[in-house]
Amino acid sequence: MADLEKLLRPHLRKLVPYASARDEFSGEAAVFLDANENPLGSATAEEYNRYPDPYQQRVKHALARIKNVKENRIFLGNGSDEAIDLLIRAFCEPAKDHIIILPPTYGMYKVSADVNNVEVKEVLLSADYQPRPDKILEEVNEHSKILFICSPNNPTGNLQESGAIQKLVESFPGLVVVDEAYIDFAGVDSWAQKLDDYPNLIVLQTFSKAWGLAALRLGIAYANPELISILNKIKPPYNVSELTQERALEAMSNIDKMNAQVSIILHERSILMEALEELPLVEKVYPTDANFVMVKVPQARRVYDFLVKKGIIVRDRSRVALCEGCLRITVGSPGENEQLLLQLAAYTSEEAEPTH
Ligand SMILES: Cc1ncc(COP(=O)(O)O)c(C=O)c1O
Repeated sequence: MADLEKLLRPHLRKLVPYASARDEFSGEAAVFLDANENPLGSATAEEYNRYPDPYQQRVKHALARIKNVKENRIFLGNGSDEAIDLLIRAFCEPAKDHIIILPPTYGMYKVSADVNNVEVKEVLLSADYQPRPDKILEEVNEHSKILFICSPNNPTGNLQESGAIQKLVESFPGLVVVDEAYIDFAGVDSWAQKLDDYPNLIVLQTFSKAWGLAALRLGIAYANPELISILNKIKPPYNVSELTQERALEAMSNIDKMNAQVSIILHERSILMEALEELPLVEKVYPTDANFVMVKVPQARRVYDFLVKKGIIVRDRSRVALCEGCLRITVGSPGENEQLLLQLAAYTSEEAEPTH
C-alpha cells in the first residue's frame, strides 16, 4: 500500500503553505480589515469585493451529501485540470519521476506532465480499449508516481473494466487516479465509494459535463483526507471564485434538472448512434458510456474539414494511436444532432472520393 509521505516530493514535506487572511481568522466578525479588499463594493449587481472561502465549505457540504463522500475527502479546483496539475506537482520530481498513462486517453495528463518536466510512460490500451494491468505493472519502478485511468475513457467513450482498475489500485506502488469526468452518463457507482479501501486512490469528477457548467471551471478530486490536505497546502489560496461557488450551489440545489438533462442526452445518444450506424459513410460506431461517441469513417480528416465548412465542429482523433480514422462526436441537442446527420449524408453525395 502506498505511503503518501514517502511518495510526496521531499521539499514539500516541510512546506509552509501561504496563510491567507481568511485562514488566520475563523468565526463571526463585523469589520474585516485583514485582506486589503475594497470596502465599498463594485459596479456589479452582486457584490464581489470580498475574497471567497478558500476551502469552499458550503460547496463541499452540498456535494458530500449528493455524492455520499465525507467533506474532508473532497478537494475543489479550477476545473479538474487544476487537480491533475497539482497532483503531478505534488508527487513527481521533475526529470526523475514519471507518470503512466494509457493512450488513447485524455490529453491533459501528458501536457501537465510535460509542463512540469515529468516523464510520461505510455502503455496502450488493448484493441478493445481496456487497460492491460500486466503490461502496465511491467513498466513500474520506484519512480512510478501516478497512474492515470480515464473511465469512461476519452476519446473512446467506454468504461474501463472494474477488475482491471481494482488490480491496478491494489498493485501499483504509487497513486492511481481514476478520472470519472463522464461518470454521470455511465450509470455505474463511482470509485469514490471505495476510498476507505484504497489510500492511494484519487477520483476526479467535474461540473463541466453532466452538470452543464463548463464555463464555471469547477473540478473535484476525492481522496483520503491526508492527500486532500496535501492538495490544499499547495493550491493557490483562492482557486475557486465566489461566482463559481455560488453557481455550483445553485445547480446542486436543483439536482433534478441535471438528472433530467442526463436522461435527455442518453436518449439522444441512442437516436444518434442508430442514425450513424445507418449512414453508408460510417464504418463503425463504437460503444460508449459517455456523452460522446467515436465513429470510424474513411478519410476522417476530409470528413472533419467538410463539417467545419458547414459550421459543425467535431473532434478529429484520426491521428491518435488506436483511433485511426476516428472522429469523436459530442451528443448535441436534438437540432444539432439532426444537422450533423444531414451534413454527413451530404458529404457522401457531394464530397466522398470513390474508394476503390
Ligand atoms: C477525461 C477528462 N478529464 C478531465 C477533463 C477536464 O475537465 P475540467 O473542465 O473539469 O477541467 C476533461 C475535459 O474534457 C476530460 O475529458
